[in-house]
Amino acid sequence: GVADSYADPVRIAVIGGTGLQSLPRFTYAATLNVSTPWGQPSSPISILHHPSPTSGKPIPIAFLSRHGLHHEFAPHEVPARANIAALRSIGVRTIIAFSAVGSLQEEIKPRDFVVPDQIIDRTKGVRPFTFFEKGMVGHVGFGDPFDEGLAKVVRGPQFSTRAESNLYRSWGGSVINMSALPEAKLAREAEIGYQMICMATDYDCWHTSEDVNVEMVMGHMKANSENARRFIGAVLDELSKEEHGDLVLAKHLDGQTKFAGSIT
Ligand code: ADE
Repeated sequence: GVADSYADPVRIAVIGGTGLQSLPRFTYAATLNVSTPWGQPSSPISILHHPSPTSGKPIPIAFLSRHGLHHEFAPHEVPARANIAALRSIGVRTIIAFSAVGSLQEEIKPRDFVVPDQIIDRTKGVRPFTFFEKGMVGHVGFGDPFDEGLAKVVRGPQFSTRAESNLYRSWGGSVINMSALPEAKLAREAEIGYQMICMATDYDCWHTSEDVNVEMVMGHMKANSENARRFIGAVLDELSKEEHGDLVLAKHLDGQTKFAGSIT
């Protein structure tokens, strides 16, 4: 069995998307059931040990499954605020978030990985998207939605109509998913460096090949999750070499009990 508490702060987290509900070949040290003022996260947080590439000493990593352990949360049902607050409350300052995406560009083929640098938000007004409410006022910059340092290392629950797909292509979009927001924005508010890793599963419906369907997506997903596990190992090796302190953003958030989730 694994422990139900973990004494040390855990600085690095991996959020697994569809097809990446667990990381079986890692060494599990603890399973934490965290409660936050925004409710419970979509899964227990697994603490796993990654050997430091330099000292061999185990470095704790937090793993959270965005859609639940059994994919019980559809994209619009993911408790994103609880997820980010829970990770923040155990000390996380860096998140690598995986997501299955559809490709909007010919050269991005199914099973390719993409490290995006921008996001177009189509979830505005639809999902709870901020920690700043009920008298807590704050504004964070989001011009560059992902963490520059991390990039160096590495809406709705429906697929699009063909007209929408072509519109997003005309906007210059590379890939499309349902999970980047509000997750990325909440991580920024919580002063956590965040980078999404996109794993292409399909060409969406703009492409003249086959229309996107769930079966096709699941096939590529399996291959992607194998690649993701190897990819995570390499990324963690790199991240383990660095310090993962606070980002200097909305400082007033720091130390507030808002993020003090309780481990139950
Ligand atoms: N996730 C995987 N493929 C997708 C697509 N075509 N549209 C939206 N989200 C996706």
